[in-house]
Amino acid sequence: MTYEQLDLKIEDRIAVLTIAREKKLNALDSATIQELHQAFSALDADKEVRVIVLTGQGQKAFVAGADIAEFSSFNQQQGEALSRSGHEKLFAFVENLSTPVIAAINGYALGGGLELALSCHMRMASENAKMGLPEVTLGLIPGYGGTRRLGQIIGKGRTHQMVASGQMISAEKALQWGLVNEVHSQEELISKATELAMIIASNAPIAVSHSIKAINAQYSNSVASFETEIQLFGACFATNDFKEGTSAFLEKRKPDFKGD
Ligand code: CAA
Repeated sequence: MTYEQLDLKIEDRIAVLTIAREKKLNALDSATIQELHQAFSALDADKEVRVIVLTGQGQKAFVAGADIAEFSSFNQQQGEALSRSGHEKLFAFVENLSTPVIAAINGYALGGGLELALSCHMRMASENAKMGLPEVTLGLIPGYGGTRRLGQIIGKGRTHQMVASGQMISAEKALQWGLVNEVHSQEELISKATELAMIIASNAPIAVSHSIKAINAQYSNSVASFETEIQLFGACFATNDFKEGTSAFLEKRKPDFKGD
């Protein structure tokens, strides 16, 4: 299968899947999310593929978030639908794959980009990577599982700090906080991710896949929190702050939030 927004290479049972919208810093529009769904489904069904490495095109970004231009005119209902379908097609989908996925974070992982990395089973970053959930700077909250998955990895207090401040953290801090497992130079990132993938690929595939299910089972006792996130994400679309935040981003200016 060929993809418009993705690049796929499979070698020695390792698939390297690259999100290829470099000019838009690999932002996730609906076409890219749809292709990612198709690619992950096909790779998961392919017995010759034991591990997937996910990365972004270029040296600047893994993924800079959901595509702001695409949703800036959405109403509450559309906002809620965007979040719900993203959860189903991509974020919960990746988390629950039988094939392990390593996120190779090669630059900015922001908003939906960090949420995508959080859905992967393991994360590695390059030294220049920056990670954050800047949704509140747009009048939004994270809508692709970040309010829950980030807390599971770095804890509640740090999650509140990252979400409420919208600030990015460095790869070094992400390592210190356990958000990524390893940090490597930009040049070495993919080869280091592939090295780990090869080790995993040499292990018993059914056992590896069962281990994902067993580990996930410890963290999935509260499906209701995703529903809360989806509804509150949608509710943000009914505010003037959302219109101001997204317009300011697209007009390349600072937002002036009034709290309404
Ligand atoms: N959506 C759409 N377009 C984006 C984008 C995004 N998330 N991030 C970057 N781009 C586009 C820019 O608009 C720009 O396009 P043009 O060249 O056509 O103007 C291009 O990518 C390059 O970006 P910049 O010129 O902004 O690059 P920079 O180096 O000055 O800044 C950056 C880099 C700090 C990452 C900045 O691009 C940025 O802040 N991006 C948005 C980050 C963000 O807010 N992400 C969260 C999105 S909301 C979300 O994800 C919701 C959710 O949880 C479901």
